[in-house]
Amino acid sequence: MGLNEEIGRRRTFAIISHPDAGKTTLTEKFLLYGGAIQTAGAVKSNKIRKGATSDFMEIERQRGISVSTSVMTFEYQGTLMNLLDTPGHKDFAEDTYRTLTAVDSVVLVVDCVKGVEAQTERLMEVCRMRDTPVIIFINKLDLEGRDAFDLLDELEEKLSIRVRPLSWPIGIGATFQGVYDLYDHDLRLFEAGKTKVERESMRIADLADPRLDDQLGTDAAAMLREEVELINGVYDPLDVARYRAGKVAPVFFGSAFNNFGVKEVLDTFVRIAPPPGPRPTDHGEVAPSDPAFSGFVFKIHANLDPNHRDRVAFLRVCSGRFQRNTFYHHVRLDKELRFANPTSFLAAQKNLLEEAWPGDVIGLFDTGNFKIGDTLTSGADFNFRGIPSFSPELFRELVNLDPMRSKQLDKGIRQLTEEGVAQLFTQQPGNKKIVGCVGDLQFDVIRYRLEHEYGAACSFQTIQAFKACWLTSDDETALRAFIRMKAMQIVEDKDGNPVFMAPSAYMLDLERRNNPEIVFHTTSEFKTEVA
Ligand code: G4P
Repeated sequence: MGLNEEIGRRRTFAIISHPDAGKTTLTEKFLLYGGAIQTAGAVKSNKIRKGATSDFMEIERQRGISVSTSVMTFEYQGTLMNLLDTPGHKDFAEDTYRTLTAVDSVVLVVDCVKGVEAQTERLMEVCRMRDTPVIIFINKLDLEGRDAFDLLDELEEKLSIRVRPLSWPIGIGATFQGVYDLYDHDLRLFEAGKTKVERESMRIADLADPRLDDQLGTDAAAMLREEVELINGVYDPLDVARYRAGKVAPVFFGSAFNNFGVKEVLDTFVRIAPPPGPRPTDHGEVAPSDPAFSGFVFKIHANLDPNHRDRVAFLRVCSGRFQRNTFYHHVRLDKELRFANPTSFLAAQKNLLEEAWPGDVIGLFDTGNFKIGDTLTSGADFNFRGIPSFSPELFRELVNLDPMRSKQLDKGIRQLTEEGVAQLFTQQPGNKKIVGCVGDLQFDVIRYRLEHEYGAACSFQTIQAFKACWLTSDDETALRAFIRMKAMQIVEDKDGNPVFMAPSAYMLDLERRNNPEIVFHTTSEFKTEVA
């Protein structure tokens, strides 16, 4: 198979959701259909139930350096699916955001009882930054959820995307009978507790068909006819080009737990989801069909065994063919590197990988060469863009509790932040280290790891900070003056860029109004301006 065929048959995606909406359950059903697992219950949820550090460490230890759960590769109807796993706990959301930079599309799971939740909104914001195509699965239809039309309105309003239902629920909760497939015109009836991978379906091309009344009862059939008429009047037919441009999201209804409505999502996914596409770099776009290999690191996983300080860097192949034991160019370090044991995620290949194609994710053993965002090429000097840092939510100053071990602490915090465990900002004078995280649990993990892996004791001191804002301006002099004037609130990110630590929403707003020539961004790649 040539490069173009390999690209054409790949789909690289993630399933995302607010915790508990059903991501793990849907993932498992996808894997069942793909034949990657044989029984339900095989996929362990990677969420932390009690929210304790020890749980997190235990999960990480079990996962160890084995990255096979981080990327699940399976085939479905001749399509090679690379499903990238994302952490289940909201405190590790930044890991999810970065994983989203490596996918070509996503499936978003929404709980029909809870509707759009906080994390759903945040995740969609990240998807919108790259116009990532989204398919929405409204889950848990077996429970008393919200009205389907209300849910669609809420999706459009809160996620700022147009939606197009492709299936429609008949009743909900106790009265839930099934869904009507608006694309294939099939009636699928629901049977609770069915975990096999078959489905009940009946083709009803015309809703006037009296069999509909026989199957659903007269009232439910009348309601379905009315609602479908309304849908077809309100929503345009699905335009696949607009879906691929991230402008409209097809919506399905079902119950992942009961394996109901899942196959419809998967079948539609393989039909419409995009194969690997071009990627932006600082020297223009790189097409996947470019025969020269290139890729970028979006995640680093440390070995938690302190005796083995090696790590695995996850690289997404963007163009050409990657081959084992071949020298590649590490652009940031200007260094040639060769990988003898790259890891693949296809069970059949016993994990050692000979070659990989655009859309694939490979695990590279690393002794400290990689940082998140690094580009590897077959010689060219360009860097992939679109792997931004996001403003953390919580900021604390790192306090060294053992001056005799400050070297270890420095090294530890640098390595952990390179892995993406948290973000590190430094403030001068005094080289003050400020650690930014999304959730409290991350600080506990850092403290634990610094102590156990680097023998360094630390504590965290709360500081008054609301958001980290990366700064740009067309007026160099004004930018320099602002940085000088606000020195107490200016820090540097890992790449030495100036960042304004806004102490509060009010102060940020005030500074924006007082300094119209300066642009305040909440991500390091400057697509999201503070609104
Ligand atoms: P997450 O990865 O998004 O965090 O969600 P997960 O799949 O773990 O699902 C969260 C809970 O919701 C689980 O229950 C799961 O069984 C349940 N769930 C998933 N899909 C459906 C559905 O279609 N209908 C109903 N009623 N429940 C569903 P749990 O009790 O937290 O966990 P478990 O003991 O079942 O593993």
